[in-house]
Amino acid sequence: MKKSFVLLFAVVCSTFVFGKVDFLRVMFNHNGDDRATIGWNQVSGDSAVVFWGTEDIPSSRYLEYSNIAHVTTSNIYKGMNNNFVRLVQLRPNTAYYFVIKDSEGISSRYWFRTTPNNEDARLSFVAGGDSRSRRETRRHGFRMVGRLVPHAILFDGDYTDIDTEEKWKLWFEDYKLTYQESDNRIIPIVTTRGNHEGSNKCLTEMFDCPSEHNLYNVTMGGTLVNIICLNTEIAIGYRQKKFLEETLREYERFSWQIPMYHRSCRPHVNWKMKMRQVKLIYRKWIHLFEKYGVKFVLECDSHITKHTWPIVKCKGKQGEDGFIRDDENGIVYAGEGCWGAPLRVPDRIRSWTRDAGSINSFKWIFLDKNELSFRTVDYMNSKEVEHLTDETRFELPKNINIWSPKNGDKVVIKK
Ligand SMILES: [Fe+2]
Repeated sequence: MKKSFVLLFAVVCSTFVFGKVDFLRVMFNHNGDDRATIGWNQVSGDSAVVFWGTEDIPSSRYLEYSNIAHVTTSNIYKGMNNNFVRLVQLRPNTAYYFVIKDSEGISSRYWFRTTPNNEDARLSFVAGGDSRSRRETRRHGFRMVGRLVPHAILFDGDYTDIDTEEKWKLWFEDYKLTYQESDNRIIPIVTTRGNHEGSNKCLTEMFDCPSEHNLYNVTMGGTLVNIICLNTEIAIGYRQKKFLEETLREYERFSWQIPMYHRSCRPHVNWKMKMRQVKLIYRKWIHLFEKYGVKFVLECDSHITKHTWPIVKCKGKQGEDGFIRDDENGIVYAGEGCWGAPLRVPDRIRSWTRDAGSINSFKWIFLDKNELSFRTVDYMNSKEVEHLTDETRFELPKNINIWSPKNGDKVVIKK
């Protein structure tokens, strides 16, 4: 009896050897309602194809999947054989299941969900960055993402500290925590470049970013939200300013347009004020945000957490550092990146700073057409936090630590 069981097990294993694919990722690079890109590292084997569909079918029955997709593009970068399959014409708010079959075997089954194509929907995002060097800390952050099941991760740059093959492999290893404990459900990521990414290729080669300059936008929820990914590591004016203005104008009818960029316009760590981008962002971008009705901006880079009151640009001695609080017309700037990088102390607090602190954290955002709200999640107790589901994702899970500074733990921005 025992012998026959062992024999059966060996036969099954030889028939369905797991393929050598690793570092699975899913990106929203255009429109999360109907398109997604699946990426992975092909460790060995070749001729990979993705079997996919809306039915949850185990790897062993991969032939029952209704669709097959061939690799759209691949490259060798950072010691990985990065393969991508771009899926288009997907159904909104739909779970897609897939396995990767190659010359050596079949992968585990993974899945992701598209966003609803509905401006009356409500969306959840986790937004943050600077995951650089403290692995245990960033692993907590990634695990927490899996527990909160946001519609997407908005990642605002500085993935690793020194941009080497080894560091990137560790980053992708840690990113797996967003899905390993959650039935292999991969939360799609929207990526932005930081100053620790040595070139724009980090995004184009590892996340299939659709722009060689890392300037692109991603819509979700029909006309609900447009995320504008900017790049503070290239010229701030010229082409980028043109892209920004054209994009803001083209999507002006959207309920929310959220610019996301790495270097902060007004860092809350004093020495960061010396960065050349500080003046340039202020001069080239802020008036465009204000002209086109932006209400919320994501920044990163200083390794602290902060959010401002709604503020507008002002001249002369009227405000502080060129901004003044304006609750009616102002923009809330949130950031500034502490997803594993060494924490700093916010030592440049202005009259319009709502709150700032030194916390390992990311922003957790809910939005619908009337209101955008966010909290700051201290993710360090990720293992104790309850798993949310699609049905409960707008509730606070048991044991979550929400940062509670003096001006309140929840920021609400009305349309
Ligand atoms: Fe940075």
